[in-house]
Amino acid sequence: MTERSLTLELESALESLSKAVFSQPIDRTADAKISVRPLLLRGERMYQAEMCRGAQAFHENLSGEALVRRCREDWDGRYRQALLVTEEQSAQYSLKTNGRYKKTASAAALPRPAAAGHNREKGYILREGENIPALVDLGVFTPEFKVVKARYDKYKQINRFVELIDQAFADSEKKAITILDFGCGKSYLTFILYYYFAVKRGMDVTIIGYDLKADVVERCGQIAEKYGYTGLRFVHADVSRDVLYQEKVDMIVTLHACDTATDYALHYAIEKGADYIFSVPCCQHEINRDIRKGGDLDILLEHGLLKERLSALLTDAIRGKVLEDMGYKVDMIEFTDFDHSPKNLMIRARRRGRKGTKGREEARRLAEAYGFRQTLLELCP
Ligand SMILES: C[S@@+](CC[C@H](N)C(=O)[O-])C[C@H]1O[C@@H](n2cnc3c(N)ncnc32)[C@H](O)[C@@H]1O
Repeated sequence: MTERSLTLELESALESLSKAVFSQPIDRTADAKISVRPLLLRGERMYQAEMCRGAQAFHENLSGEALVRRCREDWDGRYRQALLVTEEQSAQYSLKTNGRYKKTASAAALPRPAAAGHNREKGYILREGENIPALVDLGVFTPEFKVVKARYDKYKQINRFVELIDQAFADSEKKAITILDFGCGKSYLTFILYYYFAVKRGMDVTIIGYDLKADVVERCGQIAEKYGYTGLRFVHADVSRDVLYQEKVDMIVTLHACDTATDYALHYAIEKGADYIFSVPCCQHEINRDIRKGGDLDILLEHGLLKERLSALLTDAIRGKVLEDMGYKVDMIEFTDFDHSPKNLMIRARRRGRKGTKGREEARRLAEAYGFRQTLLELCP
C-alpha cells in the first residue's frame, strides 16, 4: 500500500467500522491509548472513544463526522500504531518518519463468534493472499503472498497451530495477552501468532520468542522492527538455564522445541500459572537414553525403533500427567497429519486449578521400575 493519512483510512472505513485502536503515542502529552467502537444512541450510529490516561479511562461519544475531525486534529501522526477493524477486514498501520502511515498487515476479519466454531473452512485463519509481509521476509510467502512450495509443510503446521488456538479463543473477550514461544527458531509461528492476536483479534499483544541461536534471534528481531511489531521481540536464551520473562504470562507455546526444552517450557508455564499451553514436542530422547527392561512393557523394548517410539510416547504421557497434577486439563491431539510432519502430537492444556499427586506417583513408579529420568517429573517434585 502507498503511504496515506490515517484520517483518510478511518474515513473510508467508517461505515463498517467495528473497532479502531491508536497506540504508542509519540509524545507524553497524548493519551496512552485510544479505542473507538460504534454504538447506537437513540437509533443513530455514533462512536465511543475511550481515552486511557494513566490508570483512568475517559469516554466521549462522537458522530462519524466528529470522529474523523478528531482523528485529523489530534490523533493522526501522533500514534505510532493504529488498528482499524471493519466488518470486512482488519488492518494494522505504522507511522513512518514522514508522518504518513503504512499498512503493515491486513486480514479478512474473523467471523463473528456465532458463526465461528469448530467447522471453519479449512485454512481460513491464514489464507494465501493475506497481506502478511513478515512471511515474505521469512520465505514462507512469495512477494505476491502465495505459499512458497518448499515451505508448504511449515505453512500447514502453523495454520493448524493457529486454528487450534482460534478454537480456544472463539468466545474470548480477552483484550490483552502475553505469550512466550520456547525454541522459536526462524519464528514462523511466532510472527503468525502476533498477526493473529494483534491484527485479526485487535488485542494488545506481547510475544517473546526464545532461542539458542543468536543469529536467528537477531534476524527475527530485525523483521519485527521493520514492520513496527513493537509487541513482538526475540531473546537469545537457553530456556533450560536462563532467567526468562518475570511478569504475568497467559500462554506458552512450543513448536518442535528440542527434547527437554519442551519440559522447561511446561515447567515455566506451571510456575507462572499460564492459562494456556499449546506444545508440540519433538526429539524426545531423554527416556530412550536410559530405559531398560523392568516389567510388563519389556516386549516393547526389544527393537530399537519400538523402544524409541515407546520412549517418546512415555515422555508425553508423563508430561500430561504432571500437568494434570499441577492443575491443568490436558488433551493430546493430532496436530497435523503424518504427511506434513511425523512430529504430530500436540499437548493442549488449560489451567483449571485443581491440583493432585496421583499422576506423578504413577509416573515415578514407572521411572523407578524402568530406570529412566524425565525432566518435567523432576522439575515438579
Ligand atoms: C526444530 S527447531 C523449531 C523452531 C520453530 N519453533 C519452528 O517450528 O519452526 C527447535 C529450536 O529450538 C531451539 N532450542 C533447543 N533447545 C533450546 C534451549 N534450551 N533454549 C532455547 N532454544 C532451544 C533450537 O535452537 C531450535 O531453533
